[in-house]
Amino acid sequence: MTDPKTLAERFPGDFLFGVATAAFQIEGASKADGRKPSIWDAFSNMPGRVFGRHNGDVACDHYNRLDDDLDLIAALGVSAYRFSIAWPRVIPEGIGPVNEKGLDFYDRLVDGLKARGIRAFATLYHWDLPLALAGDGGWTARSTAYAFQRYAKTAIARLGDRLDAVATFNEPWCSVWLSHLYGIHAPGERNMDAALHALHVTNLAHGLGVAAIRAERPSLPVGLVLNAHQIYPGSETAADRAAADRAFDFHNGAFFGPAFGGAYPESFMQALGDRMPAIEPGDMETISQTLDWWGLNYYTPMRVAADPAEGAEFPATVPAPPVVDVRTDIGWEVHPPALGDLIRRLNADYTLPDCYITENGACYNMDVEGGAVDDQPRLDYIADHLDVTADLIAEGYPMRGYFAWSLMDNFEWAEGYRMRFGIVHVDYETQVRTVKKSGHWYRQLASRFPKGNHTYDAA
Ligand code: FCB
Repeated sequence: MTDPKTLAERFPGDFLFGVATAAFQIEGASKADGRKPSIWDAFSNMPGRVFGRHNGDVACDHYNRLDDDLDLIAALGVSAYRFSIAWPRVIPEGIGPVNEKGLDFYDRLVDGLKARGIRAFATLYHWDLPLALAGDGGWTARSTAYAFQRYAKTAIARLGDRLDAVATFNEPWCSVWLSHLYGIHAPGERNMDAALHALHVTNLAHGLGVAAIRAERPSLPVGLVLNAHQIYPGSETAADRAAADRAFDFHNGAFFGPAFGGAYPESFMQALGDRMPAIEPGDMETISQTLDWWGLNYYTPMRVAADPAEGAEFPATVPAPPVVDVRTDIGWEVHPPALGDLIRRLNADYTLPDCYITENGACYNMDVEGGAVDDQPRLDYIADHLDVTADLIAEGYPMRGYFAWSLMDNFEWAEGYRMRFGIVHVDYETQVRTVKKSGHWYRQLASRFPKGNHTYDAA
């Protein structure tokens, strides 16, 4: 269903339509006003880590084009903007002096959103750990959790009065497994023991962050953004179904279990518990404080089969092929029903608060032709996933909003600038922004909200 008017009718009037970005991916100005390097500045300048050795020095130059970009967001008709705050701007060395100039930038950002009637959804950590903390062990060191707690307190003390919601972490799955076990993201480690330390320290930092935010600003809704995986077994054999269960515990349970149930999954602890760092008294209570909301970032399902190798490490799975081979330009399978299956499964397994889809979108690399970008497949992708979201609302799931990833093309981590997710095209030579076909379509949908039929808040 792609007619914006018909689609809009499937959503309650107070559903939030927004767009999302992250600091390192768009800001540039990596040395401006006291900012110091993050682990991504270091990583992207190492040979062989990021496509074309692209880096975040200029990115979309958003830091210097803030007002124009805020006008662009407003022109897209959305009622919310999800952005992240760069820790290396606020406390450039991770611990130690606070950089007021860094905070000033986010002051202007939130004031600019308020002036335009757009809600501010801030994320405190979207992967740009101050590089200085890497010297102490980065996320593998327990001290980093306490450094994060202080950073959270500092950011919220200054900005919290004008935020509409805050998330502690974006996708800890990436900053833990993808960064410390699979070696794809900064700091690029491939080590289960390091990854298990990063896991517990990150979970702890989340909990300490929640407490710090609430101490500063009790009324500010606090959440956590997770890229939960919908995991399908590659076949219906018992071995593949068991593999899918192990994968669920490893990829989802290691984060959802502690945050929403106060415990790591049993199978996970049986296999890896003796390699975990010390879980100190009170840690699990800190991690499992009740949240006001959670965010789901969803792009693609995961399909797994049992790893036949003798002694394979937990979760002992190998990738299984998609059933239908429809992929975006980055190679991710397109399968909208997985979004529905995932929300249903997670709500069956855990007691979850209100949910925002904090990221969803697709990589298609069409360029500007004759002043326009015809990205019909992205438009279809977003429409199909919104259709599933509307089904979930009809079934009674508390889906409160949807943020398109992304406002504009940006630095796609290990893929550099070659992979484009924006509903707005960025010409990196000129920094000219061109709203794509999907962006015009999204405006027709989003600008209908908020509207008068606030019906579904029955509970
Ligand atoms: C997510 C990230 C986001 C973006 C999208 C494509 O994993 O949170 O920054 O890179 O993927």
